[in-house]
Amino acid sequence: MDVNLKGRDFLKLLDFTTEEITYMLDLAADLKEKKKKGTLTQWHKGKNVALIFEKTSTRTRSAFEVAAHDLGMGTTYLDPSSSQIGKKESIADTARVLAGMFEGIEYRGFEQDIVEELAKYAPVPVWNGLTNEFHPTQMLADMLTIRERFGRLEGIRLTYMGDARYNMGNSLMVACAKLGMHFVACTSKKYFPESALVEECRRIAAQTGASITLTEDVAEGTKDADVVYTDVWVSMGEPDEVWEERIRELSPYQVNKAAMANAKEDAVFMHCLPAFHDVKTKVGKEIEGKFGIAEMEVTDEVFESEASIVFEEAENRMHTIKAVMAATLGIPQA
Ligand code: CP
Ligand code: NVA
Repeated sequence: MDVNLKGRDFLKLLDFTTEEITYMLDLAADLKEKKKKGTLTQWHKGKNVALIFEKTSTRTRSAFEVAAHDLGMGTTYLDPSSSQIGKKESIADTARVLAGMFEGIEYRGFEQDIVEELAKYAPVPVWNGLTNEFHPTQMLADMLTIRERFGRLEGIRLTYMGDARYNMGNSLMVACAKLGMHFVACTSKKYFPESALVEECRRIAAQTGASITLTEDVAEGTKDADVVYTDVWVSMGEPDEVWEERIRELSPYQVNKAAMANAKEDAVFMHCLPAFHDVKTKVGKEIEGKFGIAEMEVTDEVFESEASIVFEEAENRMHTIKAVMAATLGIPQA
């Protein structure tokens, strides 16, 4: 495949062709195999990357750090409380300062416009580690995981239950459209993705053989799904006040045994994580105390079931993020 992503930013999958996305997935699969065999090459030895996190993270930060180190690079982690970003220094100035010291910049934060602006001013690759609107590195991990399980992506039916108008719902819809998959948002109308993005994805789908379905009906939405996917009902940065409403409105769309039983026999359960499937967390306990529920978007039974591939999915964050950094920083020709 004649794909060269050197110098490109990685801000959202809409910016990439099907061929380019497939190239990154193939590269990630190759890097994963090499990591397992212990034959990885430090393609980017001596380089350094900045990791800006304006929201918390376990997987994305760890994935960027391990992947960078595997490629021979150094990392500097910047959190909002210990940097000047946004408070005393604009995004445009930050971009130009960091580009003088680092070969690449990861950004996790709020509006997509912020990461787009960072990329506009930074003459080095900028990677989106999650914004309110999109989570593109998560998409590569999810698609790799699905491909490993089913041996293909084209024609796979992925049903997303829950808040489909935020980063995960948006991103999965785009990924499915680009890769010829059938995306179903199964949720209350209020939580359907924004119509402009739905239209854009339908235009892409017309070229790739994908389809986009929005339904409020759980039986219809989960029927024949290969993948049942969900995410937290309240995302980072949203106010605590919305919990009550979300629990009320999204409880019918919880991924439980009945939802999985209605999907295909060999259907898998996926979640970007972290997940509220029990009360072993501070927030989980608080919600139980306030609303009397011990599980939210997914039951513990489904989370812990054979169908759940969430930990393979989490591991793939690292291999796919490594592919994104390697490809955009440039792969040395052998
Ligand atoms: N899935 C994901 O992005 O996890 P973190 O918030 O832990 O990075
Ligand atoms: N929608 C979630 C995804 C976390 C990986 C959030 O933004 O908090």
